This record gives sequence, C-alpha cells and structure tokens, in this order.
Amino acid sequence: MRTETLAILCSPLEHAPLELTSETSADGATAQFLSNREYGLKFPVRDGIPVFIERHEVTGLNSRFRKIYDGWAPFYDLLSRVGLLFFGISEPKLRSDFVETLEIKAGDRVLATSVGTGADLQYLRRDCHYYGLDLSAGMLRVCQKKLRKLAVSTELFLGQAEYLPFKDRTFDMVYQMGGINFFSDQGRAIREMVRVAKEGSKIVIMDETEKVARALEYVPGISAWFSHRRRPIVPPVSLIPEGMEQIESREWYNGLAWYLSFRKPH
Ligand SMILES: C[S@@+](CC[C@H](N)C(=O)[O-])C[C@H]1O[C@@H](n2cnc3c(N)ncnc32)[C@H](O)[C@@H]1O
Repeated sequence: MRTETLAILCSPLEHAPLELTSETSADGATAQFLSNREYGLKFPVRDGIPVFIERHEVTGLNSRFRKIYDGWAPFYDLLSRVGLLFFGISEPKLRSDFVETLEIKAGDRVLATSVGTGADLQYLRRDCHYYGLDLSAGMLRVCQKKLRKLAVSTELFLGQAEYLPFKDRTFDMVYQMGGINFFSDQGRAIREMVRVAKEGSKIVIMDETEKVARALEYVPGISAWFSHRRRPIVPPVSLIPEGMEQIESREWYNGLAWYLSFRKPH
C-alpha cells in the first residue's frame, strides 16, 4: 500500500486514523491489517484489498445485492455489454460519454463508490490516482485481474458506500455509476460522497431509470433485482445535502439513465 493511501484512510464508523500492521502466525504466514490500537480496530488486508466490512455486518438491500453481485461477478462484464445492446446502447460509447462529464485533471485523486469490475477504468485518463470501493468481493476480484493489464494507478477497497473509509476532503472527484438505486441508504451514501470530496469538486451519480426497471422486471434471472422496489425509481435529487451548488438532474440515453451532478461549495 502506498504511503499516500495510508494517509487518507480512516475507520468507516469512527473516522479514526489507521496504521499498517502485520502478524505472523505459527505456520509462518504473514497477515496485514489496518489497525487503530486506541479504538481496538483491526481491518484485514486480503489479497491486497483492505476489508472494511465483513459479510455479517451487511444488512438490508446491501446484503441482498452483495450476494447477487458476488454470484454474477464472473459474467458481469459480458452481461452488462449485452444488456446495454438490448436497449440499443453501445457500452464503450456510454462509458466514454460518462467519463467525459467527470472533471479529472492530471494528478487528481478520484473515487468511485461502487467500482464493480472497473468497467470504466479503461476510459479514464492515465495520469490520475484512482480509488475504487465496492460491496462485493467477487466484483473486486474481477476488477483486480483487469488491473494487471491496465496502466491505471488504482487501489481497491471492500466496503459500503454508506460508510466510506476515507478522511474528510480527500478527493478531487467522486462519482458513482450504477448501483445507488439499490443501496440500503442512498441519502447516507450521498452525504459520504460529499464528506470525502474536496471543496469545489464535482460529484456525479448515474443509474438506470424506472423505464429500464419496468422492461427488466419480467426477464428471468434479473426480475428479482427489481422486484424489491416499493416505489418507482427516481433520481435522488431530494437527498442532496443543503448548500450544494450547480445541481443538474437530467435523463440521458433516451430516458434509460438518470444523471445527477452537483458541486461541493468552497
Ligand atoms: C451495476 S454494478 C455497477 C458497477 C460499475 N460501477 C459499472 O459501472 O459497471 C453495481 C455495483 O454496486 C455495488 N454496490 C451495491 N451496493 C453497494 C453499496 N452499498 N456500497 C458499495 N457498493 C455497492 C455492487 O456490488 C456492484 O458492483
């Protein structure tokens, strides 16, 4: 782990600073942890990925979707490409259009709060530092494999978007693409995006619309994804914290996606 990364991490609940520690077991194997002795905190680092959440700590919709994405992870990239084509959308075009709306400069720290398999990594500029958090270890494993072939400086974290393990005012750009429709607590996840963003930075959120949910709710295998919803999907404009500036909410791609952006004031 880069020293710079250690400096921006904190525990997701207490926001306590963390240090990298290691322990050697009787069989000689060494395990790494992110720890804070004062608070009695110890987060394992497994296969290079800091784990800020264990299965039993995930509840509600997050628990349901964690299982779904863990199962779908090996097929996700293919399914998402084919699924988008079903709606007449080219995935490369969608992702490059989306990435173009982000404000990323050379050297920026960029956070994606549900990075998934990192399908948008190849569209990002190479001279920034990219941080990807996701709830599903399966999705992160696929992302990690992809990263071996991509020259994008990226670090991955297992956690919940509602409880980010990063210090206040850390990132130059924070975004989330696909996923927030099914978060356990959308409002908390948005407040966390704002907390970790630096003043003046743009925050971008995008997901599919109700139109897509209605079309997919009868498709075998996927219907369960959408059957939980008790009300139609709407962009969470009302959950944007007070005082945010330049709020923009629009439909995109023929009403198939909603796009929401705003700026954290200086
Ligand atoms: C549709 S995928 C999108 C992945 C990626 N952003 C993309 O554009 O392909 C949704 C992702 O959100 C993740 N996710 C769902 N709920 C989450 C939460 N509460 N916190 C963090 N990630 C979450 C899932 O594990 C999954 O990887």
